[in-house]
Amino acid sequence: MSGIITVTAPVNIAVIKYWGKRDEDLILPLNDSVSATLDTNVMCAKTSVCARPDINENEIWLNKLKEPFNNKRLQNCLGEIKGIARAQKSVDEEFLSWNVRIYSENNFPTAAGLASSAAGYACLVTALAKLYKVKTDISALARLGSGSACRSVYGGFVRWHAGVKPDGSDSVATQIVNSLHWPEMRVLVLVVADTKKHTSSSKGMQCSVATSELLKYRVQNSVPKRVNDICKAIKDKNFATFAEITMKDSNQFHAVCLDTYPPCVYMRDVSHKIVEVMHKYNEICGQTKVAYTFDAGPNACLYLLEKDVPEVIALIKKVFPTTKQDFVKGLPESLEGFPEIPDFDFLNLFPIQPFNKDLLKYLIYTKVGDGPQEIADGSHLLNVNGNPIN
Ligand code: DP6
Repeated sequence: MSGIITVTAPVNIAVIKYWGKRDEDLILPLNDSVSATLDTNVMCAKTSVCARPDINENEIWLNKLKEPFNNKRLQNCLGEIKGIARAQKSVDEEFLSWNVRIYSENNFPTAAGLASSAAGYACLVTALAKLYKVKTDISALARLGSGSACRSVYGGFVRWHAGVKPDGSDSVATQIVNSLHWPEMRVLVLVVADTKKHTSSSKGMQCSVATSELLKYRVQNSVPKRVNDICKAIKDKNFATFAEITMKDSNQFHAVCLDTYPPCVYMRDVSHKIVEVMHKYNEICGQTKVAYTFDAGPNACLYLLEKDVPEVIALIKKVFPTTKQDFVKGLPESLEGFPEIPDFDFLNLFPIQPFNKDLLKYLIYTKVGDGPQEIADGSHLLNVNGNPIN
């Protein structure tokens, strides 16, 4: 027994966005949100934790770099878990008095600008909850690290309930359906070549809460109906309704960002080009076959059904030409080569001319997956003495 716990946890992409807090410390949102959890085989955070008597202070490494531990959110998570362990007497006082070492990394490039804090905090709190043997709702613990992280503790499609209680005890995530419910659902992440630093989600939403009239309207009038409707569309596997609500909610979220003063501009020219291409594609198909959504950055996330993947990847390659050999990442063998087939009729007739080369850095193919998993094969990131392996 090494005493080391190692966990992997997934990224999630919201289809109804969380934007705005009613409590900054407890990280309580103004509105419910809904997301899909993505397959950890393609993108995940991996975290090892241990507690030992010979560690002088709490320490954390993120993607090989040692980071200061005096981060309020990190300390809240650890403090809360230890408090529960003490109340539940799940470990002894001596174990609770030892310091911890945490080593965490993502298997996807952070340069991609993809939301990594959700996977990271979901992974961290799952690992710590196992280390201290606490029995509690993990989503509320993850929420203390980063709001969107609470949705990464379950697989499939997940709803984060805003809750109404001031102590946040009803602000938890629940699973809408598991990862097997809609097996045809696929996700393409289009990573935009962009190096600009964006306003963090936390700062951006603070500013929106303080200044945006549209945010008030969104929270009161748009989101409640959309959440109900999209939950039903997910349960019914009604792609057209799911897709329309997803796109409208992404657009409204970015409208709120523009309504913020000073405005938060996350989408870029290429992001708007992606929107234009996908609407044109749906129009030509005579049905909604693909949905886009954008978080607090320029990258697009597309939801579509497996049968349409070759056509949509071929379209993306035609309209956003690339010089990169390994442009598509994560494609299973069964689909490899298929998107290279050049001339589907519609591609030649597609009414949008190719844009400049290399506007997109790469494309990640993935699907809906499961929640955090403990790794039992001993591939820890800390060695038996609790030291980082790398
Ligand atoms: C646009 O969860 O990163 O991705 O709670 O302050 O850590 P904090 O914010 P964060 O915000 C995510 C915002 C979003 C929408 C979403 O994921 O719902």
